[in-house]
Amino acid sequence: MPNQDQLSLFDDSTLGQPEPAAATAPDLIPTDAKIPIPPGTYQTMNQLAEHCNSCHRCDLGNSRTHAVIGRGNLQAPILIVGEGPGQNEDETGLPFVGKSGQLLEKILASVNLNTERDVYIANMVKCRPPSNRLPTPNEIAACKPYLLEQIRMVDPKIILLTGATAVRGITGDKRGITKIRGTWIEWEGRLCMPIFHPAYLLRNPSREPGAPKWLMWQDMQAVRDKLDEISK
Ligand code: URA
Repeated sequence: MPNQDQLSLFDDSTLGQPEPAAATAPDLIPTDAKIPIPPGTYQTMNQLAEHCNSCHRCDLGNSRTHAVIGRGNLQAPILIVGEGPGQNEDETGLPFVGKSGQLLEKILASVNLNTERDVYIANMVKCRPPSNRLPTPNEIAACKPYLLEQIRMVDPKIILLTGATAVRGITGDKRGITKIRGTWIEWEGRLCMPIFHPAYLLRNPSREPGAPKWLMWQDMQAVRDKLDEISK
């Protein structure tokens, strides 16, 4: 469990401002860091991945097989934020490769979005919570600077927040996902769209108008339209 010192390290108030040169080489930042990881610390995703794989800012580092960093296009216009790795992801080191991931691929394909070309996929926390429980607020706070660095490096036009954990983790908005989904939120100068988590759709397979899958389809069409509009 990170202490208060650790939690206060990850000041994101400078996001959107010119990036300072990294204060410290990533290699020199202890993996149970008591010093900040400022925006601009990592020059490459590989550097960040290496650091995550030896990270012990929270206890999830004790039980992981692999830290799960991300997959997709490092210059994608859309970045997707999930919750955290499950068993398949922990084993492979790749996000969304289990059943939820297969559904996510189908959802993206339904609006002609391609994982290798159009999206980069990452999670709120990089290490698997035991028994697939929700990541705790402390775990999310400990891991958030890594995600902020990923967002800075990929520099997406649109961020898709899958489920309430991602919405809360990024924007701080505590509303339930059924309330907030489908509405554009501006965060740090980026457009964010909260959508249902694919696992929720697996539990609610109806495609009737008004059902979660149908609502997801509406939201993804809005995302497609927005991407087309801002890419003109
Ligand atoms: N669910 C998530 O939120 N992320 C993954 O990587 C896999 C399943």
